[in-house]
Amino acid sequence: MNINIHKSSPKKKGCILLPFFEDEVDHQLIATHAGESSELDFNGGFKQKLTLYPVARNKVLLLGLGKRNKSNQAADAFRNLAFKKHKRFGDRLIVLMDHLPEDLLIEAGIGLQMAQYKIGAYKTDQDKASGFFAAKYPVHVVHTSKDATSLFEEGVAIGETRNQMMRLVDMPADRKTPAYLGKYAQQSGKKHGFKVKIHNKSALKKLGCEAILAVGRGSEQPPVMIEMEYKPKGLKSKKPKLGLAGKGITFDTGGLSIKGSNNMHYMKSDMGGAAAVIGAMELASKLKLNIHVVGIVCASENSVDALSIRPGDIIGSYSGKSIEIIDTDAEGRLVLADGLAYLKKKHQPEIMVDLATLTGSCVRTFGYACGGLFSNDDDLANRLMEAGQKVRERVWRLPIWDDYSGDIHSDVADVRNFSGKPINGAIAAAKFLEVFTNEHPSWAHLDIAGVAFGSSEYTKMKAATGYGPRLLLNFMRSIS
Ligand code: BES
Ligand code: ZN
Ligand code: ZN
Repeated sequence: MNINIHKSSPKKKGCILLPFFEDEVDHQLIATHAGESSELDFNGGFKQKLTLYPVARNKVLLLGLGKRNKSNQAADAFRNLAFKKHKRFGDRLIVLMDHLPEDLLIEAGIGLQMAQYKIGAYKTDQDKASGFFAAKYPVHVVHTSKDATSLFEEGVAIGETRNQMMRLVDMPADRKTPAYLGKYAQQSGKKHGFKVKIHNKSALKKLGCEAILAVGRGSEQPPVMIEMEYKPKGLKSKKPKLGLAGKGITFDTGGLSIKGSNNMHYMKSDMGGAAAVIGAMELASKLKLNIHVVGIVCASENSVDALSIRPGDIIGSYSGKSIEIIDTDAEGRLVLADGLAYLKKKHQPEIMVDLATLTGSCVRTFGYACGGLFSNDDDLANRLMEAGQKVRERVWRLPIWDDYSGDIHSDVADVRNFSGKPINGAIAAAKFLEVFTNEHPSWAHLDIAGVAFGSSEYTKMKAATGYGPRLLLNFMRSIS
């Protein structure tokens, strides 16, 4: 997209896009661009679309954004329109938005950018793979806000990062190895301005990250821990340092406690937490946030092999605590145990947040509507809930009371990785992670198993959703 921001309608030939909130359709404004018309079958309902073809004038596309009090879903209306009707855009798109609040410029930027996501990247016929705007495709946006350019560009930046994260999550595990995730982070860091260090297998051995190594033991692809840091020059005032940790299982077979083959292919998405963390680092740097943030990604494949860890094995961990393996499919909490303990010890962040596609239990609890939130800090929990609500990437809180401590009790080691009971699985997983935060006073865990990957109107099969980076961006803004 070649973005041009204007204070008033450019006198150019192109396709005019006119968005309206539900029941706030301005017929006068439509008449200005399309001439008087009789009754229109359009009230601005969410994702409603109507094309007008006035004689000897620009074509006008009406888009419904839905109710004003649900403007946090507007990005999806723009995405839907651009995805479905981009052929009507022609050689130039003129988006008239001055009648809308300036925040909507972000939504428009995100939606138009995300519409270009190429789900069919591996098709031999790239014409059918979607992704339609050329880099030079002119998009003219009309809004009189003095911040119009930066707001729209912020939306495009968020959309770009989400597209990249979706590409990673949708990428099959034969291409997306732990090393590949590391390489992506390195390139992104170089491009956007954050530091990246890759801890390879021998470095992990030296550090004592025995839990990450244990999970990776059965794979031909060695595990890595990716350490990222963004610290703006001349960081203003004393703001809390944020530490993020992401589960980066590039494929989860379950290990020896092998999963059924039904839907096992979805387990290429078991690095959705890692994608959220890398995406957040990318956005913090791109948008030059006034915050010091460290991101840790624990990347490994959970495979079946003679070398794989077994149920009953006892492994060590970075924290020094021993872990009894009950189920090798509860591997996400193992790699995060090291990620969290390392983050706390090495960086001492004031706030720690981890994200993981951690449990099927969380999906059974919330479905696909929100992620699970677990925290020992009410203020942090509320901020995360608010940040998510604002951008429609919601999280909802569940308890981590001591009543659940029995679930991680082991007779033979310091903790066990699974209770063996088919109940309160998401909570038990959070209780396990809590041990490795080493009594950090302000920690939150987001179980995003149900929201990182799912059905969409853009694909016939399940695909990445791009959940996470925007929620974290909003959260970082709330503490910076
Ligand atoms: N990666 C899975 C969780 C998952 C399930 C993510 C569905 C996305 C969709 C995780 O590693 C896992 O297998 N969890 C087990 C834990 C159990 C063995 C204690 C689960 O939830 O069944
Ligand atoms: Zn698993
Ligand atoms: Zn997993």
